Amino acid sequence: MQQNNRAQFATRLGVVAVTVGSAVGLGNIWRFPYEAGVNGGGAFLLLNLFFVFVIGVPVMCAEFVIGRHTGSNVRSAFRRLAPGSAWSLVGYIGITASILILSFYSVVAGWTMEYIYRSLTDFCGIRSATALHDRFDTFASSNWRPVMWTLLFLLCNYAILARGVEKGIEKVSNILMPLLFIILIAFCINSLFMPDAGKGLSFLFRPDFSQLTPKSVLSAMGQAFFSLSLGLGCLITYASYFSRRTPLMKTAFLTASLDSFVAIMAGVIIFPAVFTYGQEPAAGPKLVFEVLPAIFAEMPLGALWSTLFFLLLFLASLTSTISMSEISIACMCDDLGMKRRNATRLNIGIAMAFGTLCALSFGCLGGVRVFGMTLFNLFDYVSSNVLLPLGGMLISIFAGWRLNHAVLKGELDATSRGGRIFLRILIFCMRYVAPPCILIVFLAGIGVL
Ligand code: TRP
Repeated sequence: MQQNNRAQFATRLGVVAVTVGSAVGLGNIWRFPYEAGVNGGGAFLLLNLFFVFVIGVPVMCAEFVIGRHTGSNVRSAFRRLAPGSAWSLVGYIGITASILILSFYSVVAGWTMEYIYRSLTDFCGIRSATALHDRFDTFASSNWRPVMWTLLFLLCNYAILARGVEKGIEKVSNILMPLLFIILIAFCINSLFMPDAGKGLSFLFRPDFSQLTPKSVLSAMGQAFFSLSLGLGCLITYASYFSRRTPLMKTAFLTASLDSFVAIMAGVIIFPAVFTYGQEPAAGPKLVFEVLPAIFAEMPLGALWSTLFFLLLFLASLTSTISMSEISIACMCDDLGMKRRNATRLNIGIAMAFGTLCALSFGCLGGVRVFGMTLFNLFDYVSSNVLLPLGGMLISIFAGWRLNHAVLKGELDATSRGGRIFLRILIFCMRYVAPPCILIVFLAGIGVL
């Protein structure tokens, strides 16, 4: 079913780099530690790993199969496989949610740019928790700087996306992803030598299930979907650029493992520092921005490390946001016949408008509350905890029950004996485990059950 003239990622390494590039981002380094901090540490980590491997990997394979088999964007993939049915709604959920995520994500990526700028221009080595806290609050609640950075970040996205799939997305990911791994390992080693490293590690690794509520179980699932870029058809879109030779199960497993590894590394970097510098693990979204500067202040050549860290966080965000934008850009190019450049302009333009609103929700729009949440929190909550699980559930039902079984098996193509056993387990999870599990956790988390 795949079309021949469609762009393709050039190499096997490229496929892994773009997929891991999409998965690894603020979700791992910024969102995971603060969610784990708010939801009690170790128990959250364990639950998150459960969701990643038991639900995330099957849903990821489902996205890969749908994308590579049809060679289409989210919207037309469902239209081709199930013409005239309501399944194409999944595509529209994906497009809407991707724009919501892109908007608030760009605000946080903008914060990383501010921190790069500060590390370069006036690194002053503050260590005290209250001073760091004030510094962050003053910045985030001001009215123009966060907006300026958000817009600038979206312009960087434009520059890469307009170049296209192979020359833009793949090239950038090939260079950035290995670099990110190396620098994270260096920071992990540094944190392990901190005086209160033991306390931090036991917070992260010792599960205390008494802390868990249905809401935190939903957060752990939402985090798994968010971090693996699942549920919106982001990976359907990317898989449409995979070649026939890409082994889908292996790629999914590798992506999930590397992604979890990065999240755990982020925890290992942050929690020892939280306890060593007397910070609060449950500080929420600003955790990374208030804790890490304290580490840099202690380190020799702190300004350099600080610049490097935030630079890499910025770059990891960039490889993730381009994957979000690609969802709607691919639809606009393929289905509406728009030029890539114009489609990119439209996508980034909309994100700029919503992104500005999210950036201001820490400042002059702080009083605007919907269901008691600021716009930033609303966008995050609705997309991660509602739309991603919903999309993920539908995608897994579609691949497990509606898609031709021979197609599913053919695309997942298990050659070895171990591979065939794995395939059976995978299809079992896709059909019988993921959909009901997602539904129950979702209903319990929003308080219906
Ligand atoms: N996974 C990315 C991160 O962890 C975010 C992301 C990229 C995403 N593309 C996505 C989230 C699609 C949901 C859907 O930072």
